[in-house]
Amino acid sequence: MRRKILVTNALPYANGALHFGHILEAVQTDIWVRFQRMRGHDCLYCCAEDAHGTPIMIRAQQEGISPEALIARTAQEHRQDYDGFLIGFDEFHSTHSPENRRLTEELYVTLRDAGHLRRQVVRQAYDTQAGMFLPDRYIRGTCPRCRSADQYGDSCEVCGATYAPADLIEPRSILSDTRPQWCDSEHLFFRLGDFESMLRVYVGGGSLSPGVRAKLDEWFQAGLKDWDISRDAPYFGFEIPDAAGKYFYVWFDAPIGYIASFEHWRARHAGAASSDDVFADYWRSEQRSELYHFIGKDISYFHTLFWPAVLHGAGLRRPTAVFVHGFLTINGQKMSKSRGTFITARRYLTRLPAEALRYYFAAKLSGGIEDVDFSLDDFVARTNSDLVGKLVNIASRCAGFIERGGGRLAEALPEPALYARFAEAAERIGALYEAREYAAAVRDIMELADAANRYIDQCKPWALARDAARAAEVTAIATQGLNLFRVLMSYLAPVLPQMAQQSAAFLGTQFTDWSAVSRPLLGARIAAYQPLATRLDPATVATLVETPAPATTAAAAAGAAARPTAALEAGTTAAGTAAVSTAAAVISIEQFAKLDLRVARIEHAERVAGSDKLLKLTLGVGGEQRTVFSGIRASYPEPERLIGRLVVLIANLAPRKMRFGVSEGMVLCASGETDGVYLLSVDTGATDGMRIT
Ligand code: 2FM
Ligand code: ZN
Repeated sequence: MRRKILVTNALPYANGALHFGHILEAVQTDIWVRFQRMRGHDCLYCCAEDAHGTPIMIRAQQEGISPEALIARTAQEHRQDYDGFLIGFDEFHSTHSPENRRLTEELYVTLRDAGHLRRQVVRQAYDTQAGMFLPDRYIRGTCPRCRSADQYGDSCEVCGATYAPADLIEPRSILSDTRPQWCDSEHLFFRLGDFESMLRVYVGGGSLSPGVRAKLDEWFQAGLKDWDISRDAPYFGFEIPDAAGKYFYVWFDAPIGYIASFEHWRARHAGAASSDDVFADYWRSEQRSELYHFIGKDISYFHTLFWPAVLHGAGLRRPTAVFVHGFLTINGQKMSKSRGTFITARRYLTRLPAEALRYYFAAKLSGGIEDVDFSLDDFVARTNSDLVGKLVNIASRCAGFIERGGGRLAEALPEPALYARFAEAAERIGALYEAREYAAAVRDIMELADAANRYIDQCKPWALARDAARAAEVTAIATQGLNLFRVLMSYLAPVLPQMAQQSAAFLGTQFTDWSAVSRPLLGARIAAYQPLATRLDPATVATLVETPAPATTAAAAAGAAARPTAALEAGTTAAGTAAVSTAAAVISIEQFAKLDLRVARIEHAERVAGSDKLLKLTLGVGGEQRTVFSGIRASYPEPERLIGRLVVLIANLAPRKMRFGVSEGMVLCASGETDGVYLLSVDTGATDGMRIT
């Protein structure tokens, strides 16, 4: 039976770069979606920007732009990053959209008219200088329990206590560093308690993993509290229709964004006549379609309690299941900006191939809520050994024999039983994908890869190939090997969509149907083999988090040779610049293409104590920050005037350790022999992070 499935992952906030945590979730979701499609199901994958809330409003103010401009810029960066990781959304929309406004208002009115909302005055911290009520996280002070200074308004990071902001000792607003006042304001509350019995049945019905159910038992025991769904102006969001100056809390309209994203897709794809039926199929019936949300465990309360209750109260279907994953750690530790282990999607993509990470995440993911660790050494070892050493090795060892034997596969397999063993695994591995037990699926697939390599080792086609009389035998062995590779590639196609596509072109087949491997590929002409993957360089992987060792002379020279124009490297002396600009070596377009040139925004610029040539530049590059030391001080005596300028950054230059710190790239400059050094500018309209082509 062809299932009708709608899948989402958590909507990223529109004020920051995607990081490894986002990518883990998107990869987990994308693999599941691709698998469902290969099974022949109708599987729709919708996502959006989560565009509302105080942090987005404040960030836009700080940048001196409108929230809409901030959202548009971030959305573009997010799209690029998701694309880079081969995430195949059908729709990527925004919660700040007409569809979401209409739906949010509709759901609100239905809930209100059904009596599920109530009003209550609440006392809240108010920043008189900033002229706004403060979210708990915008207040810091001394923990009332352990007396640690500088803790958030809702919880203490030192002793783990949770409390109300009013309990903090010496509270301060992080916006103005003033002491907040306590003011009353009327808020709207969603009566979650109205839905308790429905929720108890719902969460007991198999829609959640045991780890999540255990957490829910705790929440039920603590009692379901009504939920404040309103915020006072100024707030960036949708104003509540019958409550002037009040806005829907971002967490009220964010999950409605799942429906809005679907609606945007529907408007573009479903025929107008049938479109109400399509909406009803997906959002009014729990039988005619399935709905799955992939999320992290930090947001399960919203998705397993509030969201099903809101949907139910509004007369809509509830999620079939909420798939909750654990947190991502880096080398066993929480991702942390200060430790340098906060890895953005962009940082990875500018250095390494997306599929290596997709594979690694798949090899670590299960259907439970355990945390997933990204260990740099394990990542290198695993990818090189599994993808290159085992999987791709099968194709590369066999391809040449077929090519030399005329380019056509044999008409029969020498070992049909071995092939059958591989093909029969489809159901077993399929069940593991369905249950999101990807790590177990990958283990199973790699055991088969070992078996395929053993087969080739035992047959030794390279030895037989020395005897022309045994050519047919060699072709048969290689045909067997390539057929085993084809089965493995089919099983890994949800994880490695690009490699699957390249392999499909090589074998003259397709990896779009999960059951296609039940029959081997025989007698077919195949194309010349192109390498499918290369080994990861541990030194490159190390730059994801570490401060790398100083650049060697050879590396610096290689960098210089690739420079397209006079460019001032971090700390390069004026003499060095002149030498580069005159050494106009001819380079190929391939060499040029190796440069990752990016638009960067100067967020901060300052003189460097102890150097009369250098400025220290802090650059924003699509949500990532880089520090670059640049020898332009003489031309820019007032460095603060550079703040806000867009410049051109060579983003993939090996970081370089200098006396004053590590320089993470180079900004392009024009320079003559004597006339100073001038930054190259980027035209208005461009945004930081954009690739320069
Ligand atoms: O936690 C987050 O990053 C939220 N932006 C997730 C929202 S998911 C959905 F509810 F919109
Ligand atoms: Zn404390």
